[in-house]
Amino acid sequence: MRAGLLEWSTVEAFRAAGVAHRLDRHGMVHDGMELRHDGAAFRLAFSELTGVPMVVYGQQEIVKDLIGARLESQGEIHFGVTDVRICQVGVDGSLVQCTLDGIPVEISCEFLAGCDGHHGVSRAAIPAQRRSSHQWAYPFAWLGVLAKAPPLSPELIYAVTDRGFALQSMRSPDVSRLYLQVPPNEPIHLRSDEEIWHELDLRLTGGTGKLPTGTITERVLVGLRAHVEEHMQYRTLFLLGDAAHIVPPSAAKGLNMAVADARLLAEGLDHWYRSGRRDLLDGYQSHSLRRAWHGQEFSEFMTSLLHVSPGESAAQRRMRRARLDLLRRSSTAATAFAEQYVGLSRP
Ligand code: DHB
Repeated sequence: MRAGLLEWSTVEAFRAAGVAHRLDRHGMVHDGMELRHDGAAFRLAFSELTGVPMVVYGQQEIVKDLIGARLESQGEIHFGVTDVRICQVGVDGSLVQCTLDGIPVEISCEFLAGCDGHHGVSRAAIPAQRRSSHQWAYPFAWLGVLAKAPPLSPELIYAVTDRGFALQSMRSPDVSRLYLQVPPNEPIHLRSDEEIWHELDLRLTGGTGKLPTGTITERVLVGLRAHVEEHMQYRTLFLLGDAAHIVPPSAAKGLNMAVADARLLAEGLDHWYRSGRRDLLDGYQSHSLRRAWHGQEFSEFMTSLLHVSPGESAAQRRMRRARLDLLRRSSTAATAFAEQYVGLSRP
């Protein structure tokens, strides 16, 4: 069960594509979130501040909906694909070789959408002399658990403590999604379930024992790192989502940025096939990259706001607290933060 926090523009993209029936029924609309620090809690009412809510709906549910829609429209979709190789990226089209259900095939196409994630083959198909990228890693990771337990609160809770960060999210009224900041290379099974619950309770409730517990059904370790590929298009190849940029999960922007890329490219292709004009396609990279850097900047802001860095000085810690305090005291600061959180301010 991966990320599940959707910006309103992502919900609208799914609606426009006609794939939001289940999302509209089961998505949990959120109007605010809670920030806890130094034993205090305050609610950031982002709907009130910006006019748009967020929606919690699991990523694998989105995948189910997209596969369902593709099959319903008699579109082709293949799962048993291996040995994918991009052999040629030309100005008029591209050529891909792969093994499809055991049979070697060659696919020629007018355009190639590289939506194959951070470890896919598309990014490497752009010639090295045309590539430049930025990447960095944060000195901590998240241990995420999925649990058969009602969430502590119906809204997300971001808890900032001297022991490290913790996040409470959910997938349904009976299923919680919780994360703990841990050292970057911590083995995933180092902590027992009891130790995880104890640490979550310490960070989220101050150790009051109020955090509802239950069976942990899944664990993941998420490294916090960032990557931006500056060249997102080459001739007829376009990079989308994680193939082009990854963000630390702190602001839950990764999936939303990927959907924004897909929407932008779809508009460009639609425009090309309707009018024969390439201007939208040609502008794909500059538009998407600008948006990616805004997403990266806010993810960086939230990451440094929420986490204890190894070796953080007392002064740095005090300044982090001051930034949290500013969000509570200043409606201007809270509104600016909320606009970025819900994605309204991203170009
Ligand atoms: C969730 C994940 C995130 O990275 C985040 O910032 C908020 C929520 C989630 O899994 O629900």
